[in-house]
Formats: sequence, C-alpha cells, structure tokens
Amino acid sequence: MSTSPWWQRGAIYQVYPRSFADGNGDGIGDLQGLRTHLDHLSALHVAAVWLSPVFRSPMADFGYDVADFCDVDPHFGTLDELDRLIADCHDRGIRVVLDWVPNHSSDQHPWFLASRSSRDDPKRDWYVWRDGAPDGGPPNDWRSEFGAVGPAWTFDDRTDQWYLNSYTPQQPDLNWDNPEVEAAMHDVVRFWLDRGVDGLRIDALQRLGKDPLLRSNAGSDIRHDQDWEPVAHARLRGIRRVVDEYPDRMIVGEVYLLDLHRVVDYLAGGDQLHMAHNFVFLHLPWDAAAFRSVIGDFESLAEPDAWPAWFLGNHDHSRIATRYDDDGGSGPARARAVALVLTALRGTPFLFQGDELGLPDAEIPPERVVDVDGRDPERAPLPWRPPSVAGPGAGFTTGTPWLPLVREAEALCVETQARDPRSTLSLSRRLGQLRADSATLQVGDQHLLDAGPDVLAWLRTHGTERLLAAVNFATEPRRLRAGALPDGRYDVVLSTDAGSPGDAPRGPGGTLPELVLRPTEAVLLRLIDPAPGS
Ligand code: GLC
Ligand code: CA
Repeated sequence: MSTSPWWQRGAIYQVYPRSFADGNGDGIGDLQGLRTHLDHLSALHVAAVWLSPVFRSPMADFGYDVADFCDVDPHFGTLDELDRLIADCHDRGIRVVLDWVPNHSSDQHPWFLASRSSRDDPKRDWYVWRDGAPDGGPPNDWRSEFGAVGPAWTFDDRTDQWYLNSYTPQQPDLNWDNPEVEAAMHDVVRFWLDRGVDGLRIDALQRLGKDPLLRSNAGSDIRHDQDWEPVAHARLRGIRRVVDEYPDRMIVGEVYLLDLHRVVDYLAGGDQLHMAHNFVFLHLPWDAAAFRSVIGDFESLAEPDAWPAWFLGNHDHSRIATRYDDDGGSGPARARAVALVLTALRGTPFLFQGDELGLPDAEIPPERVVDVDGRDPERAPLPWRPPSVAGPGAGFTTGTPWLPLVREAEALCVETQARDPRSTLSLSRRLGQLRADSATLQVGDQHLLDAGPDVLAWLRTHGTERLLAAVNFATEPRRLRAGALPDGRYDVVLSTDAGSPGDAPRGPGGTLPELVLRPTEAVLLRLIDPAPGS
C-alpha cells in the first residue's frame, strides 16, 4: 500500500496483559489468553501490539517493578510462550512492541539486593544512595510521582543511607550516571531485539536525566529530578544507537512532560525517539479549539522532521468514555468521535485495550482497591462474552477476576458488540480497515481548516484524493463553515453517529455548503469533482 515504516501505517494497540484475557483461570490475564484472542487484533487491523510489562515482577506496580528484565513472570507465562506469541503476531502481520522500564528495577532485583547489602558492594553505585540531610530527613526535596508515597527517598537501616525511588519504594531508581548501568540496560534492549521484538515503549523516559548533583527542586525554575537536559538527550541517543543496530525497529517514549517544546526535544535530530506520547493531547478538555491548537502546535514545532503520535488513553488514566462521555444516557458518542480523530489525523494512533468497545472505567469498591495511585478503574478486565452466557467472568476468566469488571459487561462485551453493525466495536473495525486501505490516511498531507465554532476539521490529501474529516464537539447540530472549504460534492466514507433507534444512517453525500453535522458526530468525507474555480 505505502512504503512508510510499519509503525506509521496503522494503530498501535496497547494490551495490559493482566486484564486482557486469562488462559488458566487464576483471574489474571496471561500470554496464553492473549494468544487465543489475536483474531480480535486482526479484526481491528492494528499495525502492532504494545504489551505492558510481562517481565518477572513482585507486582508492587503490576509489572512496572521488574525483578528480571530478561524473563517472563510466571503469572503471564514463560519466555517460550512469549516467543510463540511474537511468532503468531508476525504470521498475522502484527508487530510486537514491549514495554522497557529503564528508570528503575524492583527492590527484589538481584542488582538491588546486592546494592543494598553493603556500602562496599560492587553494585552499590548501580542505584542512587545518599546520606540523609543534616536534620535527619531525606537527602533533598524530590517527591515520588505517586502522591500517596510522598518523598522520593527511602531510608535503609542496613547501611544507614537513603535510596531514590521516583515511584514506589519497591522501585528503586537505577543510577544511569554509572556507565555500567547504561551498558547493562543496553544489553537488555539487545536481548529483546535479538528475540525478534519490533519495538520498545520506553517507560518514564523523562526520568532518565536527573541532576547528578541531586539538587532540590525548590527555589529553582527548572526541575532537577527529571528532564535534565545536559544528560537526558545524550542518554537517549545512546539507546537509539543500540536500536539502530537492528533493521526496522521503533522506539516510542513515554515523555511525561506537559510542555510540548520539551517533549519535541526528545524527537529532534533523527537520532532520538521515533515517536513520543503527547500528554498535552491526553489532558485536553472536550473542546474543538483546544484540540485544534494542540494539533497545530505539534505540526509547527515538530513537523516535518518528527512523526506525530496521537493517544487519548492508557493504563494510567481514566478512560476516554468516562472522561468525555460521562454525561449519562447518550452512549459513548464522544469516544466514537475520538476513534475517528485518532484514525484520520496524520500520525500513528495509539489505542488502549477496551477503547474499541467504548469501555468506561469500572467502579472499584474500597476493599478491592489494589493500585497505590488510583488507577484500578481503567485497568478493569476486558469483557469478552455476555455474563448471562459466560458467567460473571464475562469470558475474561473462569475464575475470580483480579479486579471487578465494568457493570455494563452484558451490552459492551466483544461478543454482543460484534453482532451489532452500529456498535463502537464495529465502528472501530471499520476505522482500522479504512486506515489499512488508505494511503491518504497513512501518508497524506494534512491541513487544519477553519470550520466554524465547535467544529474541528482537517483535510488529508494524497495524489488526487482529498479526504475531509470533521468533528462536531457541540451537543447541537453544527454547519460546517463552507467558506473555508473547497466547494463541491462529497461522499460520506464514514460517520460515527450510530443514529437513534430507527434512524437511518447518514446518507450517501451531498454538496459541501449544505453539510450539517449532527450532535457529537464525526465524519470522514471524500471530496469529488470540485466546482470549477474553487
Ligand atoms: C509509567 C507507567 C506507569 C508506572 C510508572 C512507573 O508512568 O505507565 O504505569 O507506574 O511508569 O514505572
Ligand atoms: Ca492467568
């Protein structure tokens, strides 16, 4: 279709393995469960699957605390099963991206066990150890990313020093100022790329660069505990050099910074990231002008050198359908519009498992809370089959699920939605197919349009084809401001409006100045025979 790299062609689908599908009935999703559901990924026409960590872990942060970077945790399966999963995905033309967690390990990692054993241990300097402040408190004012944890330092009375933990105390930060650590972590990258993994999502990349002098943040206009420019980019370039030892591989960074300039710095020069997650985009309110401005900002700051990536949900954030649609009653209309936005923008869409179903957050009763940072609701297991048929595990498990499922599992499960051509799942499959078949969506140019209040619209062009995407953010109908648009006729390629019951789906087309978008509708139009002179 197009000769662009694989990671630009279609969506990258994030699997949170604990919650995808349980193959052995222990209530926890695993590789075996995932392997039996690859048809689901094929039906969405995704380019790649990104697996949240499946490595050996005591699960203090559900896999983001890694005790062996080169082995699979028994909860998820075996290294052998991971090899088979990779092979099965490749047979289907689906690439595999693993989640590499370079900033920290588990406190149960043999490196840390050695490091904490004595101040003289050869691994002591593999982590960040310091004496306390003169008042007996932690060495500086750095705070954990997780509010509930507090200071980013834990006192260890074995050796009377503090170690740095930017997340939980069970996740001590590795000391990247030590070249041995850098070399060891590069070998982890090689280990997985040698096994045929196509790419890596780099966890918490902004944390790899810290002020080596460990100065406090207070009183400074920049933060010292992350995004430390003098080292951050050289470090990333070192990682990229390793990745470039292999053909056709990709790295995407979780660069959790809310200043787009700083994010774009990690994409600069062609020798850093291939893509970065844009958290400014993820935090947008439901507002056409806000979307337009962030899309425009990325274009002007980063393109054409950097390739955009667009995402609005992951395992750390309340789900799209809950954030945007929780106004009751009308179904996930905004989540459906978002699915079109992600597919039709120039760039790579990232989808979080369950978004293709318009899944909301689950309600987690207090006694079932397991995450330290309130992220259980978006991590609820996927409902595959109606509970009325498959029991309370909804096809996710035959056992007791590790987290409760959403209340709406009967209506929102894969099996129910697959039977309904108007469902969010059917829409997601059509969008995936469209993207897979369209060079214009994959590689076409993009122009943001001035389409009037509450309307976000943009044109994609490639060769003679012109596709127009438009989203009505309002809850009333909105006319597309025709003056800003090429005149002429159009065909409707797709509308996200499911129609109220009995309503006919949007007709075949019309002329542009007459186009009225329905409430919260997103459309993709193909423009045909432009009027002469337009
Ligand atoms: C990233 C992950 C998050 C994890 C943290 C520490 O932000 O997405 O889930 O808790 O890093 O590894
Ligand atoms: Ca299991």
